[in-house]
Amino acid sequence: MAENGSSGKNTLSIRDNRTGRDYEVDILEGDVIRAMDLRQIKVGDDDFGMMAYDPAYKNTASTRSTVTYIDGAKGILRYRGYPIDQLAERSTHLEVAYLLLKGELPSQSELDDFVHEVTYHTYVHENIIDLMEGFRYDAHAMGMCISGVAALSTFYPEAKDVHNPQARWEQIIRLIAKMPTLAAYAYRHHRGLPYVYPENELSYSANFLNMLFRIGTRDYTPSPVLERALDVLFILHADHEQNCSTTTMRVIGSADADPYSALAGAMGALYGPLHGGANEAVLRMLKRIGSVDNIPDFMEGVKNREERLMGFGHRVYKAYDPRAQIIKRTADEVFEVTGRNPLLDIALELEKIALNEDFFVERNLYPNVDFYSGIIYQAMGFPVEMFPVLFAIPRTVGWLAQWQELLEDDEQKIARPRQVYVGPDERDFVPMENRG
Ligand code: SDX
Repeated sequence: MAENGSSGKNTLSIRDNRTGRDYEVDILEGDVIRAMDLRQIKVGDDDFGMMAYDPAYKNTASTRSTVTYIDGAKGILRYRGYPIDQLAERSTHLEVAYLLLKGELPSQSELDDFVHEVTYHTYVHENIIDLMEGFRYDAHAMGMCISGVAALSTFYPEAKDVHNPQARWEQIIRLIAKMPTLAAYAYRHHRGLPYVYPENELSYSANFLNMLFRIGTRDYTPSPVLERALDVLFILHADHEQNCSTTTMRVIGSADADPYSALAGAMGALYGPLHGGANEAVLRMLKRIGSVDNIPDFMEGVKNREERLMGFGHRVYKAYDPRAQIIKRTADEVFEVTGRNPLLDIALELEKIALNEDFFVERNLYPNVDFYSGIIYQAMGFPVEMFPVLFAIPRTVGWLAQWQELLEDDEQKIARPRQVYVGPDERDFVPMENRG
């Protein structure tokens, strides 16, 4: 036994003081123990055994993954080992999509083939237009797109063959290709404009901008700066390991559901204002604050828990979200073209206060990926209802990369957590006449 009492073994010794019994469990790679190793800890032989109680899974690893690495304390984010700032600077969204899905950067011919496959699957069945037409003019674009993705499952019954790698790959291509089309159709319906069909000679981002903003037969050439800015934003939003929506994708996927149904569920989670809906909530917050003069009152409201500073804070990052820094740089390039967004002044002042005042510093409330993205999207002409949709389009890649990894992981089974029952003991039914 070493002086500091360590035995040098890679195990955890557990003493159950209720019984005086000692247990030894292995410590695995990543500094974790298998939760199932706790089940041997019992008082009575007929007991179920010990579980770990972890609401919101704040300290639970649900999988081993090779896709994305985050170090929240150091503000590090890497896709398949490549730092996010290098990818944002030197790659494209579809090249990053290939990397996330295949695990390696593509050769030129591999990339060309992948881009071709995606480009030639951007059309959706005309029935999808009928579906879009069924929504009210003011229907939220995210609700329309969630419905559209779920509806796609009815066009591709072969998608149910989730353990067939070729069938999986075909659906992965279709979903990456069709998400911008669904999003653009939702936007055009919202605006009462005719639908613009995909143009195969345009890039992924340029085609999306064209389907959104082209009016009539007039030539529409998206600004190269905006096309590149959108592609960078897509790269930054492509994956983020086991966040709420990705966990949802994995849970639904663990039941062998088809990827369209699973992805519709993941979009539902992303829609929440605490998750991907935060970029829309940020814009509404900035508009509600209205001017820099109103910030002190608003921040008092945050401290009194009457307000939440949307776009700040993160479950994992306890330092600056590396994506927020890149987005802030991209904002400057966009505003060169679109003109400066007046809401930026309010955002910069909020950030300055949050980075200096104890209430925020003590809670590690730094700007996250959603704080500046909404300001850019608004400057680019997107209505706030489109903001969560603009998050879902690139995150489709991450959801699918994680779904694919789940299905290829022999350790995974259908997700079915346990509970700690704290409800009433057995009791007999009470006839209506005897109820209080
Ligand atoms: C995304 O997980 C991912 O990876 C997500 C994401 C991805 O790429 O997939 O990164 C994308 O969802 C980014 C987060 C977007 N959401 C928002 O910006 C909404 C505002 N932020 C939060 O509500 C909050 O910060 C969360 C939900 C993001 C994280 O919440 P946690 O980790 O559960 O922290 P918490 O709610 O337990 O808060 C800890 C303390 C609390 O104060 P006390 O009660 O301890 O005094 O910090 C406070 C909270 O009240 N707090 C905030 C706050 N966030 C946390 N107070 C004011 N404003 C905030 N934004």
